[in-house]
Amino acid sequence: ALALAVGGLFLWLWNSAGVSTVGKESFGNELAIPPLAQSQVAKDGTRVFDLRMQAGETEFRDGQSTSTWGFNGAYLGPTLRAERGEKVRVRIRNGLDEASTVHWHGMHLPAEMDGGPHQMVEAGGSWSPHWTVDQPAATLWYHPHPHGATEKHVQRGLAGMFILDDERSERLALPKRYGVDDLPVIVQDVTFDGATFDHGRGLMQNAGFLGERTLVNGTLSPYQEVRDELVRLRLLNASTARTYDFGLSDGRAFSLVGTDGGLLERPARMERVQLSPGERAEIVVRMKPGERTVLRSFPQGNYGDAWQRRFNGGGDSFDVLQLRAAERLRPSPALPARLGELEVPAGDDAVRARHFDLERTGINGRPMDMGRVDETVTRGTTEVWTLRSDDGMPHNFHVHDVQFRVLEVNGEAPPPRLRGPKDTVFVPHGTTVKLAMRFDGPADPDSPYMYHCHLLYHEDEGMMGQFVVVEKGQRAGAPAGEAGAP
Ligand code: C2O
Ligand code: CU
Repeated sequence: ALALAVGGLFLWLWNSAGVSTVGKESFGNELAIPPLAQSQVAKDGTRVFDLRMQAGETEFRDGQSTSTWGFNGAYLGPTLRAERGEKVRVRIRNGLDEASTVHWHGMHLPAEMDGGPHQMVEAGGSWSPHWTVDQPAATLWYHPHPHGATEKHVQRGLAGMFILDDERSERLALPKRYGVDDLPVIVQDVTFDGATFDHGRGLMQNAGFLGERTLVNGTLSPYQEVRDELVRLRLLNASTARTYDFGLSDGRAFSLVGTDGGLLERPARMERVQLSPGERAEIVVRMKPGERTVLRSFPQGNYGDAWQRRFNGGGDSFDVLQLRAAERLRPSPALPARLGELEVPAGDDAVRARHFDLERTGINGRPMDMGRVDETVTRGTTEVWTLRSDDGMPHNFHVHDVQFRVLEVNGEAPPPRLRGPKDTVFVPHGTTVKLAMRFDGPADPDSPYMYHCHLLYHEDEGMMGQFVVVEKGQRAGAPAGEAGAP
């Protein structure tokens, strides 16, 4: 009888439908557009921003207020924007009653300014990182990175976009009016228990938290009016564990113009773009007057085995954002055939190969230790890193400070969606991915950068390692192990 009961429970779990909001959203809420952050230009030309981490209340649904965290507001944060070559400084104040950090995901900058777990900002404290923007135009983002508590801090709402521009992006005929034909689309999944967030994990959900609905820019069931023929969506997967496979509900193709670290060499036509947590894609969608279409996330084709699809969200689907075209649309110029040169290395000048086994219990068999430097790389060199995921769980891999080129996925040339500059890549069960990257930031043997799985539950549990960049012949120092340890 027990065997029957267990068998029955198993069958019920296996057969119960996956999460889906397809066809169920009313699209009754106008999409919120995060404001562009105010900045001041100091005498020496530095662009100065202010960000305050604070607690607040957000009304996602009428009359129900949810306790949330945000930057300069109750939920999410403003969009920071700067140009290549500009000096920037961000004055951060922590108005929460616990310590946190602010990390610049995708930014090339000195390790001490990176906002990783070694740069904790105490409750009530402040921190003013500064650097010179020295990388191509891109859609980056910022979020906390306290060791062991990143999932919780991001889930409560601490995240925002950081858009970089350069001469080329300003010159190209791409949609570029922020909030008009160039839209930030920050996608997160949530579950509500009454008015409050329910951040619980299911019994067999090894990926981490998987929510029942999606928010875009903090808006539930959102729609956006479009008044131009071409609309650019800057998609950011800011969810803690969920991977999306974005496309349009009517199956139309769109043009991918950018990945994590900036523009592609040329626009690529496709119908789907998969984004695991932390990844970005810039897509351009062509609209016809008066029509409606929905940005949808479809069940994943490459999410590991049936078990993974069933219990870790690979089979789920969401109606994410409705686009409503006006009856009359402003004509948009055709997309440029060429966008420019990639600044990521091809790997032929690599001086070193490294291998990373991705396991939930640690990378290369070792859980994160803030006092240990795992890898030492030489400034000014190119390396090839090989990632392997084989533990029956979905993972991805993010490297701080650099953008990389994906050379191979399972021995083959990468699909078009992985052919731009990347800082995060999905590595589903049974996959080998080869990357090339160049480390040309300043050397600092004492200040480590992180590499880790960006499924935040895995990261918090120790799926993270540290590397330092040193001058040729120099040795790694000893990072402070206790600083910010949970
Ligand atoms: Cu988006 Cu190490 O983080
Ligand atoms: Cu992982």
